[in-house]
Amino acid sequence: MVPSGGLRPDGGSLGSGPNTHRNGCGLKALIETGLRTGRKAFLIAAPRKDVTEAAAQESLDELGELAETAGAQVVGRGIQRLAEPHPATFIGRGKAADFAAQAAEAGADTVVFDDELSGAQARNLEEIFPDCTVVDRTALILAIFAQRARTREGQLQVELARLQYLLPRLTRFWTHLSRQRGGLGAIGGEGESQLEADRRKTQERIERIEADLEVVRRQRATQREGRQRHAWPLASLVGYTNAGKSTLLNRLTGAGVVAADQLFATLDPTTRRLHLPSNQDVLLSDTVGFIRKLPHGLVEAFKATLEEVVNADLLLHVVDASHPLASEQVRAVDAVLAEIGAADKPVLMVLNKIDRAAGRSAAEALVGDRAHGVGVSARTGEGIETLLSHLGTMLRPVRERVVLEIPHRESRTAARVHAVGQVTRETFGPDSVWIEAWVPPHHLAEFQAYDALARMAEFPVGEVAP
Ligand code: GTP
Repeated sequence: MVPSGGLRPDGGSLGSGPNTHRNGCGLKALIETGLRTGRKAFLIAAPRKDVTEAAAQESLDELGELAETAGAQVVGRGIQRLAEPHPATFIGRGKAADFAAQAAEAGADTVVFDDELSGAQARNLEEIFPDCTVVDRTALILAIFAQRARTREGQLQVELARLQYLLPRLTRFWTHLSRQRGGLGAIGGEGESQLEADRRKTQERIERIEADLEVVRRQRATQREGRQRHAWPLASLVGYTNAGKSTLLNRLTGAGVVAADQLFATLDPTTRRLHLPSNQDVLLSDTVGFIRKLPHGLVEAFKATLEEVVNADLLLHVVDASHPLASEQVRAVDAVLAEIGAADKPVLMVLNKIDRAAGRSAAEALVGDRAHGVGVSARTGEGIETLLSHLGTMLRPVRERVVLEIPHRESRTAARVHAVGQVTRETFGPDSVWIEAWVPPHHLAEFQAYDALARMAEFPVGEVAP
């Protein structure tokens, strides 16, 4: 028998081969991912009755992409509509048996469910699919995140989420072992004390990681204070996985961030400085890609990373406008934003991939829906200038408007206003130049001596700066 998937005692998550005795191997082995390519996956979804057929199929397509990202090959799929999931087997027992026959015929060795299964459900399903590893969407996403996390912080965050997923399921894994040893599925004696020891170790490791991540969070807070001293506003790129965030960040800043046609290519935020044509510096940070049914534990674990989003002055919500389910993806991202407390942030919708015909027409429709939206192609650069100009306008509130009268003999001061601020109006009089500009607060003191806001009515009629 090939035992269950998810985060398994032998360390496998999806397709890491048959279960073996642990023989005292440590906690690390419990959660390590041993993803191997070549597993044959049968996908199962159980949408509620009100979900349309198209949406149900699309959700399965996405599950298939996730499975492929994890290195598996999809060999079949099945849907059962449900009013409510069954507490014991998630889908109906009879239907599960039908799917088991189909899966066997297709040569599947792994069954992937589109929803999170409880430990008991997974355990019962393993009996119905005796030759398959049973994996749920959460375990699959966690496994992909584990593969992709590049920095120590990202790795810790994923490990935390995996441990939290594992903790309530430890019994299930021990039941496996016991069954393998010819027991009746119950845990007793040695197994019981080993289970207790694993539980305690898991709990201790969770506490250690949480403490480490707290240090990371404090470091980020210090960096943030530094940023605030410079008064550089922060714009965070958010969006559904594969929307084009990394490509856009590269296009805008030449950051050299990995951009791949792969789900979750980016897991660690990268922050870069961007100088706008409006003469303003902005920090732009790329964040983790969102997805429907993103495991809650993962959102929790990535809090330190997602704080960049919560603390941003502006969100650039990047959408793959050419995707048939672009609107659903926008809603899924909005739901995660609400969950992390960023629902009220100002948002600029960046409707990407307009170089594709489907992208262009959908972008036009989607822009119409929102107060701030711009169609772009991060790949060809089309629309990027308009995007930059929107960015400048939307970030303006973090600068202050000044009206200055500067004598011609102090032309260096006038040049300085141009260098640090965004000049919106400028008129040359016989002895002085009048300037209206938006200036970062930390530069205000330099120009205080020339303040002419109270005499605004005297501003000579003249040019408006570009
Ligand atoms: P995650 O890391 O999963 O969150 O993805 P991401 O949003 O950072 O997407 P990424 O920049 O990695 O791009 C995903 C895929 O879309 C890559 O194959 C890109 O080349 C492609 N892509 C990005 N922008 C465009 C675009 O404007 N047009 C087209 N045609 N493809 C694009």
